[in-house]
Parts: sequence; C-alpha cells; structure tokens
Amino acid sequence: MLMTDSIRQQFPILERMVKGKPLVYLDNAATSQKPQVVIDALTDYYSRYNANIHRGIHTLAEEATMAYEATRATVKDFIGAETTEEIIFTRGTTEGINLVAYTWGRKHINAGDEIIISGMEHHSNIVPWQILCQEKQALLKVIPVNDAGAFALEDFTALLSPRTKLVSIVQVSNALGTVNPVKEMIAAAHQAGALVLVDGAQSAVHLDINVQDLDCDFFAFSGHKVYGPTGIGVLYGKKDLLEEMPVFQGGGEMIKEVSFEQTTFNELPYKYEAGTPNIADTIALKAALDYISSIGKPAIRAHENELLEYATAQLENIPGLRIIGKAAHKVSLVSFVIDGVHPQDAAIILDNLGIAVRTGHHCTQPLMKRFGIPGTIRASFALYNTKAEVDALVTGILKTIKMLS
Ligand code: ALA
Repeated sequence: MLMTDSIRQQFPILERMVKGKPLVYLDNAATSQKPQVVIDALTDYYSRYNANIHRGIHTLAEEATMAYEATRATVKDFIGAETTEEIIFTRGTTEGINLVAYTWGRKHINAGDEIIISGMEHHSNIVPWQILCQEKQALLKVIPVNDAGAFALEDFTALLSPRTKLVSIVQVSNALGTVNPVKEMIAAAHQAGALVLVDGAQSAVHLDINVQDLDCDFFAFSGHKVYGPTGIGVLYGKKDLLEEMPVFQGGGEMIKEVSFEQTTFNELPYKYEAGTPNIADTIALKAALDYISSIGKPAIRAHENELLEYATAQLENIPGLRIIGKAAHKVSLVSFVIDGVHPQDAAIILDNLGIAVRTGHHCTQPLMKRFGIPGTIRASFALYNTKAEVDALVTGILKTIKMLS
C-alpha cells in the first residue's frame, strides 16, 4: 500500500490553495505534478553545472554530458530497450510520432500503401499519418471502437492486408483510459509484414513497459506525464530501423562532417538530435523515472486502480451521469457526461471548489463524434491522489448538477 501522506509531501504544488480551497488535482492525464527531486534536478543543473553537452571538454561540459547521457541509460532500462542507441530524445510524444512519419514514412510509404490506426487515437497519432497519406496517396484505415470504448482484436486483424505498411496504435486511450492489447496486435501486424508504432503517452506512467517483449518497432512517450518536465520526450526505435531511416532535422550534433558539397551524418542516437537539446529537462527526466522506480509501478498501479474503482462506483450512482469508456482493462481515468450539464460549465464550477479536471474533446474529436458527444469531463488519478479527493469530486459534481438544473 502506498503511503500517500508522505508521497504528497514530496509534491510541493499539492500544498497550494485554489480559489481558497485545497487543490484537488485530477488532471494527471494532461500532465502530472512534479516531485521535489525533479524540481531539484532542474535547479541543480542550472545552479551548478549548466553547460552545453558533447562539445566542451571543460568540467561543466563533462558533468552536463554525463548527466544527459545517464538519462538515456535510465530510459533504456525504464522501457526495456536493448541499447542506448535506440533512445532518441524528442520534445514529447507528438514529436516522436512526427519524426517517424517524416523520416521512415516518407521513405517507405508509397501510393496504395495502408496505415492502420484506431478510432480512439489522439490527434497527434492521426494528423501526421493523414498528412503522409495525402502526400503519398496512401490509405489511412481506422479500427472501429465499440460502445465500451474498446475494440475487438478481430476488427483489427480484419483490416490487415499485404498493403499494410504500418500500424500506429495508442496503448492507453487518453480520453477513455482503455488499455489496448498492443502485444497481440504487434504480433499480428508483424505476421502481415507491417511495422508497429506504439503511442505510450498515457501508458508509460501506469504500465510496465518492455519494448523488447512487446516487440514494437517504435515507442513514443512524454516526460511530463511521468512526473518529469515538459518539453522532453523519448522515441524508441529498433536499431536497424533507426540506422536506415533518413535524418529528421539538420543542424549541429547530428552531423559527422559538413562541407558545402556534402554532409555525412552522426551515429545513433545523435543522428536524430540536431541542435542543442533540452539538457535541463532531459537530466530531470532521470530523476522522475528513478522516482517512479523507487516506489515501483505495481504499488502505484494498485493504488490508482483502487481510486478508479472507488470513483467509478460513486460516479455511477449519480442520476443522469454516464461514464464513457467501460473497457474491461482501463487505467485510472474516468470520463463522463451528465444530462443537461455542459462539460465546460462543470469545469468552471469544479475549479471554484479547487478541483482540477479536464473537459472537452481531449484532442480526440473523431472519438467524441463516435459517441455523439462534444466532449466529456475527465478525472485522471495519479499516485498522490486520495479517496478523500475522489469524495471531493463526487460532492463537487453533485453541487454542479444542483446549480445547473
Ligand atoms: N493529451 C493530453 C490529455 O489527454 C494533453 O490531456
């Protein structure tokens, strides 16, 4: 069992008041709060060893380079990659997906090829493929989502064909919390000769990730959803794929030698890291991943699942409230609509009670359309949330209904 009291003390923001009420932060799927160790890692870098990396041979540059590369090693272990060469630092999941679309995609997708995504994808796992398909006259196919907010494996395999070149699939839905059977999907896709990119933006913080066991070809996630800073993310790719893909952005660091006639490119992973990277946030990402590992994902998951069950049971009892997304396998996130209550109005009332939830379409407009709704109210739980906070949410929702009806 998690010692929530002592965990909460490690997150300074949780002490703040909002509109005169203690903050109840239930918007963790948008971004998680940061423990003191992550904040300290940032200030420590800027106060003690701020320097550019991989360039200088002075002490500060060496310390910064070592800390930056130490994060790469930690990420490798965190997601079970084989080598650090397979770990590319990006700005976040969106940039990771775009990197694959712009490099691998432009090289390998041709007219008539097919890319499969699902009906519950975030816009960032729709739009890059849509742009690519339009450019190449390829076809984007979509796995239909059922009423529970999940999809059947057969509905996916039915879409596979010899023309399928890529499957890009979210492991955990940001809007519904659904956990998708990505391991089985990867096996089926590989059998059909397609590669698979896994969008791990919502899964990396909750699930045990082992990219070798999954056998995915690419895996992308963001630092700020795993208790780390914004502006830093990771793209994992199998080494042979990353080696043969064209470069993404040109600039410093990604080159071996430049002349006006020709440029040769750097080795992995630097080939994809043009320009001075986000050094501070990369260093602080290590602190975040170490923090998660020190507590252990199984313990965190057990706590979060308890909150999910508790919240689901209470919310379901509220007349007029309908939970959207009732898959058998979910992470700690509950999305719902209430008869006669616009999600935006609910968010304002809840904010006045100090409660932070996200409302709207959650960057999944096609999914909202599938359910015939403009958006939902979404409460997403993290390791520091408590049952008392769930109670506060439920009380807040009851107040909202009373005020608006
Ligand atoms: N994609 C993030 C969310 O679901 C921002 O809130």
